[in-house]
Amino acid sequence: MANFWQKPLLFVLLLTPFLILLFEALSGYLIDPIEEITNPTGQWAFRFLLLSLLITPLNKILPFSLIRYRRMIGVFSFFYACLHLSIYLIDQSFEFQFIFEDVLKRPYVTIGFSGFILLFLLAITSTNKMVRRLGKRWKKLHRSIYLIAPLIVVHFYWQAKSSMDIEPMIYALITLLLLGFRINWKKWLN
Ligand code: HEM
Repeated sequence: MANFWQKPLLFVLLLTPFLILLFEALSGYLIDPIEEITNPTGQWAFRFLLLSLLITPLNKILPFSLIRYRRMIGVFSFFYACLHLSIYLIDQSFEFQFIFEDVLKRPYVTIGFSGFILLFLLAITSTNKMVRRLGKRWKKLHRSIYLIAPLIVVHFYWQAKSSMDIEPMIYALITLLLLGFRINWKKWLN
């Protein structure tokens, strides 16, 4: 039981961006609340998604295992994605007819929405019970994380005001490195 504090500590760390945002919103610091909440929640969702992808490579390098933290990081990515989507829905005044048309019309919204649906499937199947119930199919389903990350790269890139925006490029590079690590290069090159 020596490490009983590690998961609660991680929980608090992952919740901190939300608490900061909440504090900023409640104390009236935000000049344009919709944009100033949409962008950081999208970024935190993506950062935690990438962090969950980093666990496997780290596991191969480090002398101890971090696998037990991966689920919490992934679920937090979904939590921030829900906040991100909620602000979008509020911004559109929950006008579902318009939202439906927007998802079909604006490619970056279509892509973001697809990423969200996949993330939702991963989150609802992340419990021990679902892992047991789905068996081998669980692993197959959870491999869609390798699709979600590039989808969000495209979402990030397409929503940027300028095609020369450096931030989406940095995220794209990190995604490429993390996905590249998963490829069995020996098998491909031989
Ligand atoms: C549910 C569907 C989604 C919708 C409707 C949506 C909508 C948006 C909107 C409106 C913006 C801001 C565009 C602007 O400033 O003009 C945005 C940016 C962004 N979204 Fe999403 N999004 C969705 C899903 C996601 C998901 C699942 C993620 C990550 C896992 C994500 C990550 C981001 C990122 C990283 C940005 C850029 C933030 C920045 O510029 O700092 N989005 N999204």
